[in-house]
Amino acid sequence: MAKQEDQFKKVLSHAKEYGYVFQSSEIYDGLSAVYDYAQNGVELKKNIREYWWKAMVQLHENIVGIDAAILMHPTTWKASGHVDAFNDPLIDNKDSKKRYRADVLVEDFREKINQKIEKDITKAKKRFGDAFNEEEFRATNQNVIRRQKQIDEISAELTRVQEESDLVGFKQLIVDLGIGCPASGSKNWTEVKQFNLMFGTQIGASAENSTQVYLRPETAQGIFVNFLNVQKTGRMKIPFGIAQTGKAFRNEIVARQFIFRMREFEQMEMQFFVKPGTQKQWYEQWKETRLKWHLSLGMGAENYRFHDHDKLAHYADAAADIEFNFPFGFKELEGIHSRTDFDLSQHEQYSGKKLQYFDHEENKSYVPYVVETSIGLDRMFLAVFSNSLQEEALDNGTTRTVLKLPAVLAPFKAAVLPLVKKDGLPEVAKKIIEDLKWDFNVFYDEKDAVGKRYRRQDAAGTPFCITVDHDSLEDNSVTIRHRDTMDQKRVKISDLKEIIKQEVDVKTWLQKM
Ligand code: GAP
Repeated sequence: MAKQEDQFKKVLSHAKEYGYVFQSSEIYDGLSAVYDYAQNGVELKKNIREYWWKAMVQLHENIVGIDAAILMHPTTWKASGHVDAFNDPLIDNKDSKKRYRADVLVEDFREKINQKIEKDITKAKKRFGDAFNEEEFRATNQNVIRRQKQIDEISAELTRVQEESDLVGFKQLIVDLGIGCPASGSKNWTEVKQFNLMFGTQIGASAENSTQVYLRPETAQGIFVNFLNVQKTGRMKIPFGIAQTGKAFRNEIVARQFIFRMREFEQMEMQFFVKPGTQKQWYEQWKETRLKWHLSLGMGAENYRFHDHDKLAHYADAAADIEFNFPFGFKELEGIHSRTDFDLSQHEQYSGKKLQYFDHEENKSYVPYVVETSIGLDRMFLAVFSNSLQEEALDNGTTRTVLKLPAVLAPFKAAVLPLVKKDGLPEVAKKIIEDLKWDFNVFYDEKDAVGKRYRRQDAAGTPFCITVDHDSLEDNSVTIRHRDTMDQKRVKISDLKEIIKQEVDVKTWLQKM
C-alpha cells in the first residue's frame, strides 16, 4: 500500500514538474477537484481524444460525431432522471468534520479484505512455484474462504441498501463493519443523506425572468435529444452510432485522487442505436471492441479487467466497467451500458415528440435500443500517464526517470538537439525542425550537456532525440536516440520523417486492434 501511495505521489509531482497538469487557480490555493492541463498535458489529452475519435468515428462508416451544447433545456434532466435520482449517499464524521461517500467507505473497506486475499495468493505462488493452482487455493484455503465470504456478504448488503435507498441500513452497515474515518479513525458518524450531484445555474438577465438550468452531468443526453435530427439528416440506418467528446460537470462529494474524480471533466461517449432484441449481441461486441482499443496502446493486458455490474440501474439490462490498475488499485476507467429504450422513450414522453425509427426491412417504427460506451478522458489520461512513469535502474548504477508514453500519444514526437551552441549546428537543427514541424510536434533544446538533455526528454516522454553534431555538416546525417531502449543510430536527415512516422502513426497503432 505504501509503495502504491509513493508511486501516486510521484505521478502528481511529475505531472506538475513536467508541465502536464496544474491545480486550477493555484495562486489562490486551488479549487478542490478542478485541474488545468498545461503545455504538455493539453497535447497528451488532445492525442488521446483523437485516438478515440479515429477509432470510433473515422473507422466506422456507421458512426458519426456531434458537439452538443453544455447547457440544455432543463426538462432534459427531468426526463433523464437526473433531477430526481442523480444522487450520491453522503455521510459526515462528527469529529473530523470530513465528508465521505457512504458507498465508497464500504467499497474501500471491502477492497482491503480483497488485498489480504491477493497477498495470501502471492505468498502461496512464491512458495509452490509452478505447482501452484490458484483456483484450488481459493477453494480450499480457510483464510481465503472466510475473507471471500465476508466480501460477498458486504457486497450483498451494499447492493440491497442502494437498491432500496435504505439510508438507515446504509449507516448501520458502516457501523457494523466498524469503519472509521480515514482521516481520524473516529467512528462518530452522522446519518446518511442523499446529495444531488448536478451543478445548477441561471439563464436570463434578471432574477424574475431567469430559468434554472444545469451544467450537463453527462454528454450522453445531448446525443439522445439529437437522435432523430442526426438519423434523418445523415440518412443513418440502424444499427448506427453517434459519438461525442466534451465537458461534463458533477459536484462530487469526495473529490480526491487527483484527476481520477473531478468536478469538471471530459467524457468521450458513443451511443449505438440498435433494433430491440439485438442489444445483448451489440453489448458483447462493444465490450470486446473497447477492450481491444485499450490493449492496442500496449499498456499490459494484466492491467485491465472487466467488472460486470450486479446492481443495474433501473433502465439498464446489462452493464460492465473496464477497470484499470491505477496507482491506487483497480478502478473504473470506462463503462459499457445496455440502456434499453429508456432514454429515448423518456424524451418522447416529456417532449411529446416521436423519437422513432422507421425500419424499412421490418416495415414498422420502433424506439431503438441503445448500447453506450462511455470513457472519461481525464481518467484515460491518468491511466496512460501513471502507467508510463517509470524509474529505471541503469547498467552504470544510476537510475533514470522515464515517461514511456505510447509514442502515438506523446505530446512531442522528437527533440532536436545541436551538440553545441555554435559552429553552425543550431542552424542545421532548426532546419530539421522547419521540415518536421509540418507533420509532428517537435521540440528544440540547446541548453546543457547533451546527456542532461536526453534525460529531460526521457522524463517529458519524448520518444526520439535527434542530435546534430559536427559530422552532420559533412554527411547530412544525425544520431537518433530511442527513449525506451536508449539505442542510438546514425541516419540520414532525409530519412527522419519516415522513421518517426513509422513509430507514431495512428494507423500503425490502431491496426493492432
Ligand atoms: N453516460 C454514462 C455515464 O456518464 P458514468 O459511469 O457516470 O456513465 C462514464 O461515467 C465515465 O466518465 C466513467 O467511466 C469515468 O471514466 C468518467 N467519469 C465519471 N465521473 C467522473 C469524474 N467525476 N471525474 C472524472 N471522470 C469521471
